[in-house]
Amino acid sequence: MAWQGLIEQYKEFLPVTDKTPKLSLLEGNTPLIKLENLSEELGIELFVKVEGANPTGSFKDRGMVFAVAKAKEEGSKAVICASTGNTSAAAAAYAARAGMKAIIVIPEGKVAAGKLAQAYMYGAEVIQIEGNFDNALEMVRSISETSPVTLVNSVNPYRIEGQKTASFEICDVLGEAPDILAIPVGNAGNITAYWKGFKEYNDKKQTGLPQIFGFEAEGAAAIVQGKPIDNPETIATAIRIGNPASWDSAVAARDESNGVIEAVSDDEMIHTYQLIARKEGIFAEPASCASIAGVIRSVKEGKIKSGSKVVAVLTGNGLKDPQTAMDVKVVPPHNIESNASALNAFIEEVLA
Ligand code: F0G
Repeated sequence: MAWQGLIEQYKEFLPVTDKTPKLSLLEGNTPLIKLENLSEELGIELFVKVEGANPTGSFKDRGMVFAVAKAKEEGSKAVICASTGNTSAAAAAYAARAGMKAIIVIPEGKVAAGKLAQAYMYGAEVIQIEGNFDNALEMVRSISETSPVTLVNSVNPYRIEGQKTASFEICDVLGEAPDILAIPVGNAGNITAYWKGFKEYNDKKQTGLPQIFGFEAEGAAAIVQGKPIDNPETIATAIRIGNPASWDSAVAARDESNGVIEAVSDDEMIHTYQLIARKEGIFAEPASCASIAGVIRSVKEGKIKSGSKVVAVLTGNGLKDPQTAMDVKVVPPHNIESNASALNAFIEEVLA
């Protein structure tokens, strides 16, 4: 049967009722692609879960479709969230689809252009603050306690429920859980969701459990440092978060799975960002690349053994952040005269 979206597909694993609206933009069912070149180089079997293939271009659609559907089911007319950009794009899209209002609070100047464009296009009310994501989250958490709006950040348990479905898809394609699941960590909702998903699927279908390898950005590595970071900074604006809301459950995922949570530098993320685009034809946003940057390092350090089956989550589409791509591009454009012989001379030079 044709794919019908997450809620319909996984209703036996989700708290769906007769009254849950049939909301969907056909999210989920994203590609699991083997990175042939990098696998060979690293001596492992490396797959990527391409979450940028979701309707709004990030994994947030999995959680948001369910959080918005449940908000609608409960009679809410508006959703609110803090965001570094992807959550707000997904909230805005699913609210539009559900006929609800979306109010989003974002750190001014720190949201990638594509994400901001989405929020505007989907018709969200965009509120910019001078503070960072952590400040924005604090604001919306307190407001949602008194105001008739539903909070759809990942502290909303329905977000985690929706997002856990990515683990199901991985197990279905591979036939079992991988040895290692590598994932970027920001507010720590997604690492929480994947671990929950792997455990539930294993309980039902004996698919086994992976070790969870989470990677924060070095300038925003609160869990790694064991303390909140007041002024988190990283080129990967999606994970520029200094006080992750799901800190404890991220640590539980790490410890229960015998995994690690480590930091990767901006340089490592940008190197990986360029590498997978140029060597594998996959364009993922910088924060996404924390997962593979972490895998590359872990292989070098012997924490990932040769022959391991590894799935790295690529959380968002590279098109979300065109500016970073333009800033770090490896091959500059060539200006030539507008005639065929100039082009011919260029081709001869390139192929020489
Ligand atoms: N990768 C991308 C592309 C993200 O947008 C985020 C989070 C993460 C990774 C980290 O996921 O927070 O569950 O640990 N973005 C949020 C947002 C914070 O507002 O879009 P997490």
